Amino acid sequence: MSVESSVRPVTTLRLTEMKQRGEKIAMLTSYDFSMAKIVDNAGIDVILVGDSAANVMAGYESTLPITLDAMIYHARSVVRAVKRALVVVDLPFGTYQGNSKTALDSAIRIMKETEADAIKMEGGEEILESVQRILSAGIPVMGHLGLTPQSIHKFGTYSVRAKEEAEAEKLVRDAHLLEEAGCFAVVLEKIPAALATRVSQELNIPTIGIGAGAGCDGQVLVIHDMLGINKGFSPRFLRRYADLHTVMTDAVSQYVEDVKSLDFPNEKEQY
Ligand code: KIV
Repeated sequence: MSVESSVRPVTTLRLTEMKQRGEKIAMLTSYDFSMAKIVDNAGIDVILVGDSAANVMAGYESTLPITLDAMIYHARSVVRAVKRALVVVDLPFGTYQGNSKTALDSAIRIMKETEADAIKMEGGEEILESVQRILSAGIPVMGHLGLTPQSIHKFGTYSVRAKEEAEAEKLVRDAHLLEEAGCFAVVLEKIPAALATRVSQELNIPTIGIGAGAGCDGQVLVIHDMLGINKGFSPRFLRRYADLHTVMTDAVSQYVEDVKSLDFPNEKEQY
């Protein structure tokens, strides 16, 4: 499917309308111009410039090392490509926790320097003041609850969150706090499907799940994972839609062989 550029761009309001009429929201990450162009043209609703760029673009073990400058670089590249989707950018670790003025400054830099549509932040009650301050500046905020990778050193593991009642109840409270503050959507990462369904039913704003089951109002995956570029990551929730690792490896091997055997370039491929 290809989407004409005349199609109305996706707005935060439109996402709410989609939830109201039961239309699921499709979201994927992108970090560069060429990928974002393909993803947007294929009809995606939301593009997340995720701090997963730290893993898939820069090769770090966690999302913690990526800087605000690096996120701005990726987001600008994506925004230049996108004609239809809503572009959301992650506030990276250390740019919003603990100080709402720093949080606002970080969010303003992203909005001014990238022309993205919204930002995303991990956490509930503990970051509420920062969320409120950013919202008060007119910047749309997407929340992110459950497995929040920026807190990996607190959790100690990437396994499913909120299986115990106390953590599940805190997650539900946090989701309501984020909605009441004015967030336009909330990502629910790696939590039991029944809990995600409950949150999705209780909230008026859309929930976007990753490893949170079919009851969410939308789904998100990391583009490198769903295209099968990144072979080493195989969680249960991941569906691979292509095997680009094999396609790309075969193409590069063939090129190496063709160069070395003098097959490339041939007469038609030179001036
Ligand atoms: O950074 C990211 O890619 C994300 C998604 C996994 C939701 O936050």
